[in-house]
Amino acid sequence: MTIQWFPGHMAKARRQVTEKLKLIDIVFELVDARIPMSSRNPMIDEIITSKPRIVLLNKADKADDAITKQWIAYFKQRNIPALAIDAQTGTGLKQITALSKELLKDKFDKMAAKGIKPRAIRALIIGIPNVGKSTLINRLAKKNITKTGDRPGVTTAQQWVKVGKELELLDTPGILWPKFEGELVGLKLATTGAIKDAILNLQEITVFALKFLKEHYPKRLIERYSLHDLPEDIVPLFDEIGKKRGCMMAGGYIDYDKTSELILREIRGDKLGRLSFESPDQYLEN
Ligand code: G4P
Repeated sequence: MTIQWFPGHMAKARRQVTEKLKLIDIVFELVDARIPMSSRNPMIDEIITSKPRIVLLNKADKADDAITKQWIAYFKQRNIPALAIDAQTGTGLKQITALSKELLKDKFDKMAAKGIKPRAIRALIIGIPNVGKSTLINRLAKKNITKTGDRPGVTTAQQWVKVGKELELLDTPGILWPKFEGELVGLKLATTGAIKDAILNLQEITVFALKFLKEHYPKRLIERYSLHDLPEDIVPLFDEIGKKRGCMMAGGYIDYDKTSELILREIRGDKLGRLSFESPDQYLEN
């Protein structure tokens, strides 16, 4: 389900996350490894001021490994610990508890010194819709517990989900809005499937995706669509893929909507391999 984020919804979502922050020791901020910046909430630094945080680059199985490594280094340089994970299969999840313990060692040592009984670390998972929050909670809890729906207004009683002996999660994640700054962010969110196609023009999303692939992954395009070479312009490229895949209309015209659907489905379904749509060098301050 796609949420329409109106200012009232944003304020309420923010309030709900702020309430949940009072209950926990650490935040797990889930982002999409293919677009770690565009899939972050733009106000995250303002919202989470008082708790340590780990950035979890989820869906790392779909992202370009070399670029994911660059992102981890990028966050670390900014004193934000980051891990690459795949919530669907569970890859990388073991490191989460160990890293949380490391980050909270001082706090828990102080509690122990005051004679407070040891307890599990309490964590909150936050992220934009569709980034994999429910999948991660279920995978960590090893059972099916959350049915959150992407409704920022819904309130339910808070419950703790045990992850081994040392970690507990709030069973409802914090849902925050994605960035709406700039067209590029929207196009990246749409290309990866984070926002529904209906919001943006299908052909526009595909033109963006083809341009990006042509620049960054030309070989993958050539191989997937058996192209002899890459046309200079996007329209002939679009045409060739449409023709090759039989996305035609009556009269021998290319059906651009059908071609767009096919290309986007194949990108999202990893048919062009593991792809990252942004890299840290685009974000380095000069
Ligand atoms: P949310 O709670 O943050 O809204 O996200 P949710 O867990 O529902 O996950 C959204 C989609 O992403 C799901 O696919 C889920 O299986 C997939 N997903 C989550 N984590 C990973 C991961 O690490 N790797 C991969 N490859 N996929 C992951 P879905 O139910 O099929 O939804 P959709 O793809 O039809 O949107």
